Amino acid sequence: MDKEAVLAELEAEMARAALPLRESNLVFGEGDIDCKVMFIGEAPGETEDRLKRPFVGRGGQLLDRMIEGIGWKREDVYITNIVKRRPPQNRDPLPEEIEAYRPYLTRQIGIIDPQVIVTLGRFSMNYFLPEAKISRDRGRTFNIDGRIIYPVFHPAAALRSPDMMKGLQEDFQKLPSVVNGELVTSIVLPDARAGEKPKPKKTQQGSLF
Ligand code: URA
Repeated sequence: MDKEAVLAELEAEMARAALPLRESNLVFGEGDIDCKVMFIGEAPGETEDRLKRPFVGRGGQLLDRMIEGIGWKREDVYITNIVKRRPPQNRDPLPEEIEAYRPYLTRQIGIIDPQVIVTLGRFSMNYFLPEAKISRDRGRTFNIDGRIIYPVFHPAAALRSPDMMKGLQEDFQKLPSVVNGELVTSIVLPDARAGEKPKPKKTQQGSLF
């Protein structure tokens, strides 16, 4: 079976499964399934639920502008969320909701097999990097099981804060170098945070799943 058929089967399986938040629509994800870069947000909002497409509200429009600002097109990347149905009143996803959707996202990532995962916001970042802090670790690369995880601010948060907007723009400007493998960031490890100098060129290792 080709990738497209395997993903369609996964989506159908999710639609049948007894997953949380079934009162809202399944927003599986969209884009180029042969992409190098996959963007992963938190959970669909009201517009996304209605249109059954990820990142199509105000945050999505900003994401599109950021993607276009580095000369890419939305159609050339893949966009999805860790939780694939809208939590009521756009509340934060609960840990048990994130865990319930985890096996499906794991399979979705495995099928698409991107080189780089850009996590949008802290929930998505902490899904892959439980110890990471968004203000400290956004714009840095983490190598997990041969894939680069690159955390950035959530576009909706950037719409509320000029500082985050600036940070999001800066991190997007670095994204082409991340994909080329030119940008490998040093990570401040726990001992370094306690006062030692950060170790250069060291990437944090972890497990994707
Ligand atoms: N915020 C998200 O995290 N995901 C969406 O799809 C829309 C808004």
